[in-house]
Amino acid sequence: MENFKTIIEPFKIKMVEPIHLSSFIQRKEYLKEANFNPFALDSDKVIIDFLTDSGTSAMSSDQWAGMMQGDESYAGASSWHKMRESIFDLTGHEFILPTHQGRAGERILYGHLGGPGKFFISNTHFDTTRANIEFSGAEAIDIPVEEGKNPKEYHPFKGNMDVKKLEEIILEKGSANIAGVILTVTNNSGGGQPVSMENAKAVAAICKKYKIYYFLDCCRVAENAYFIRLREKGYENKTYKEIAQELFSLTDGAVMSAKKDALVNMGGFLSLKEEELANACKNLLIITEGFATYGGLSGRDMEAIAIGLREVFEPNYLHYRITSTTFLGEKLREMGVPLMWPIGGHAVYLDAKELYDHIPVDQYPGQALVCELYLTGGIRAVEIGSVMFGKYDDNGKLIPAPMELVRLAIPRRVYTQSHIEYVIEVFDKILKNKHNAKGLIITEEPKFLRHFTSKFKRVE
Ligand code: F0G
Repeated sequence: MENFKTIIEPFKIKMVEPIHLSSFIQRKEYLKEANFNPFALDSDKVIIDFLTDSGTSAMSSDQWAGMMQGDESYAGASSWHKMRESIFDLTGHEFILPTHQGRAGERILYGHLGGPGKFFISNTHFDTTRANIEFSGAEAIDIPVEEGKNPKEYHPFKGNMDVKKLEEIILEKGSANIAGVILTVTNNSGGGQPVSMENAKAVAAICKKYKIYYFLDCCRVAENAYFIRLREKGYENKTYKEIAQELFSLTDGAVMSAKKDALVNMGGFLSLKEEELANACKNLLIITEGFATYGGLSGRDMEAIAIGLREVFEPNYLHYRITSTTFLGEKLREMGVPLMWPIGGHAVYLDAKELYDHIPVDQYPGQALVCELYLTGGIRAVEIGSVMFGKYDDNGKLIPAPMELVRLAIPRRVYTQSHIEYVIEVFDKILKNKHNAKGLIITEEPKFLRHFTSKFKRVE
């Protein structure tokens, strides 16, 4: 496809799922019923679902064919051997445990290594990673590079970890108290930004020097490998898979939510180099997930993962995947929509504080944008700002999050170019009506993870 400007979806559609179209009037009613929180909407009331890229991939005909061969034996299923082989080929880690999704692996590994007085250090811990660490009594410390905190400035690897700070923290806390260093590739909470190989190597060297475990949170490792090949000197002639293999080779282990770059709807794994650590984790796996050759998975799930982990490194797929996310982001930027720059791998992150500068942060500009996107075009997105991370001080005053972002996460192989064109058109209206957008107040909220179930009211 060298000499063409148009990058086509490298697949044909064999099975379709209807999108239920709705009118503005209907959506107004639906949103009111959902108390202005799109998490409470049924999916058939959504036109374009950008809530997450997790577990929402379309599987290939090869994966569906593989599922028919799922071996559902309790122990030693052939499907497990296929999944294990695929993961070993990628990670080179000898000891592999299947889990039902990413957070199950996190609970097992970080729960085992954590506990009071222990610390984990990451470029940015994903919410469930942090929650599992804190649940064990340990502390999670985020040290993204300074460039990663500035949404507008271009930097090729905004997902990098601040290695100077890493060493300082190790010296301050004492290396024996650092339970592990976790590099998240790409850095989801930091805008889906990639990590460079140079940074991954620098982190490895420090971990080696202080004899600290080094893990990869690798759910988007293929997308990260794409950016390394594109932007880092010396990697132009390597395959995406070779780059990913090199990333894994630096580490002591990895946790993967297969719901992202393994192109499946459910699954995950934990892979480790050290037998003793693997045995301790295996015991925990058997208690809560399932026997060591299936974890929480059925045989057919394991077949799909084995195939998906190979398909995701296919160059035409990865090129299409990253270019289509970038296409959406660049178009929105050209139109004047403020957003995180450059565009990451799996999502476009919009800056709602700047777009709706007339809405104060205690009236949640991000949630206002989420509601406008749904009302205007039936697009479902998620607020990543003060609804998700805001806290209250002793007087009940909101302590806002550092940024008021909205994430448009793009499911893999699901939407076509015309869906994306439609989304761009919706933003045209969003921009035209931006001064009419109204803030929201929370009328009901749970104690934890309030973005999922809070209820809101519009400020009229
Ligand atoms: N690590 C990262 C970087 C993630 O993005 C996620 C999930 C997990 C771990 C946990 O995996 O959901 O399989 O238990 N991210 C989803 C998202 C939920 O929407 O970004 P899981």
